[in-house]
Amino acid sequence: MASVAINSIDFEEEVKKARECYMYGDYGRSTTFYKLAIDKLRRYCQTLSNVAEKKHGNECIVELERELKSTVEHERMIEEIHENLFKKYTSGGGGRAAGGDINNDLNYGSPFYNAAVDERPTRDPGFNNRNPAQGVAPFQPASARPQGGARDIRSANHNQRGRNPPSNAPHNKQKQSDNKRGSNQADNAEKRYIPTPAEKDLVEGLERDIVQKDPNVRWVDVAGCTGAKKLLQEAVVLPRYIPDFFKGIRRPWKGILLFGPPGTGKTMLAKAVATECKTTFFNVAAANLTSKYHGEGEKLVHLLFELAKFYAPSTVFIDEIDSLCSTRGQSNEHEASRRAKSELLIQMDGVSGALGNEDPSKMIMVLGATNHPWDLDDAMRRRLEKRIYIPLPDAATRKQLLEINLKEVSLEKDVDLDIIANKLNGYSGSDITSVCRDAAMMQMRRATENLSMTQIQEQAQVLKEKLQSPTIMKDFEDAISKISSSVSKEMLEKYDQWMKDFGSV
Ligand SMILES: Nc1ncnc2c1ncn2[C@@H]1O[C@H](COP(=O)(O)OP(=O)(O)OP(=O)(O)O)[C@@H](O)[C@H]1O
Ligand SMILES: [Mg+2]
Repeated sequence: MASVAINSIDFEEEVKKARECYMYGDYGRSTTFYKLAIDKLRRYCQTLSNVAEKKHGNECIVELERELKSTVEHERMIEEIHENLFKKYTSGGGGRAAGGDINNDLNYGSPFYNAAVDERPTRDPGFNNRNPAQGVAPFQPASARPQGGARDIRSANHNQRGRNPPSNAPHNKQKQSDNKRGSNQADNAEKRYIPTPAEKDLVEGLERDIVQKDPNVRWVDVAGCTGAKKLLQEAVVLPRYIPDFFKGIRRPWKGILLFGPPGTGKTMLAKAVATECKTTFFNVAAANLTSKYHGEGEKLVHLLFELAKFYAPSTVFIDEIDSLCSTRGQSNEHEASRRAKSELLIQMDGVSGALGNEDPSKMIMVLGATNHPWDLDDAMRRRLEKRIYIPLPDAATRKQLLEINLKEVSLEKDVDLDIIANKLNGYSGSDITSVCRDAAMMQMRRATENLSMTQIQEQAQVLKEKLQSPTIMKDFEDAISKISSSVSKEMLEKYDQWMKDFGSV
């Protein structure tokens, strides 16, 4: 292989990893690293003015592309071998029945060995009842098998043998097509990722803290943000229903950034995606991924995407993404967080469907939210292809917010929500929530104004009746006078400017 020796940029690390992964047969990751290295080198070459250096750079690119091509070919070839083996040992509808003695043929330590062995008739309780039209079930990797029963023990053993296939290894590819064929949410609910002993703690931690089942926020609970809602639906929901359309150039968006002032509903929108879109939702606080233990953060990011691939279609929501992906290379940046960040970038490339031919209904979308978009790393910004501004609410949205917040509060007839909405110009969604909460508390404050705690206790019953009285317009006026907008004009100008420079809707 060529010696790639161009200084000043750090693509060599990627080349090294690409070759390492290749050596270990992890062609999927190897491909990702090669692409990353070529991309970096190409950009670097564009900045060169020295003809000789440029020529050398271009030669390196050609060499790396050659290596990339052979990696892709190897991967394809192994996939083919795998499919042929699979067909051979499953033809006739009964696992290894047709093609001879699988143990003799395949017992040479290949990852396919277990794959094929595991495709025995006992593998799936419903296997023998399968409608022939459905064809023979593909083998299911250890991690894809439901827990419980005999198969579990086999799965556990399988893992304990230390067989931890690389993420894009052929049988993991098969894992994805398993999903395709098994394709529905009920299947996902049954499936359980079974980690290797080394991964166990981290995977358990991720599943406990990060996989979010149902945050119970619906689209209608989020006021305004019509454009963002539409785009999220387009990115997450539609590819599942019309996968054929979302291919090639129309591949689904791999990354979306929601940015805007604090308290405008960015996190709520992400939660609505989780509730409404029926994808597996990984709710990641950036801090969770930057472990102080060397290498742990990197491993976590890697596992996070392994899980996301396994439970696909998935949405990986990274709140406050700027704290993880702020400009790299700053002196105060911790090595561990730098590595976690790099891994995240690599993984995002891996899920991008860069060739545009992956099954869009099995995609992984990364959804980031931030109120400091200008702090984002350039590389991350590029990967978050859609950058949507979630601004302060306009008059109509403010009224909607009032209605949402006050749906359980009884209001006096004099309360005019249009007037209140006008007065709240410049307030964020969370400011408006605070105003509503404060106004709704006013009658309680009035009723208990001159009472001691003992008197309140004694008069609890009378007070309860008094507290039934509706909230009046003056309560809102008082609340507005006490609570001011939390977002400054300068801040809004900064968002507008960033939207002009980098926004993409
Ligand atoms: N568009 C909205 N619709 C309904 N409620 C909203 C909306 N925007 C803000 N809120 C209210 O404000 C609270 C905070 O919203 P959220 O956490 O989504 O803001 P955020 O944009 O993520 O803020 P931050 O940037 O500080 O994380 C919500 O719990 C909700 O009560
Ligand atoms: Mg938030």
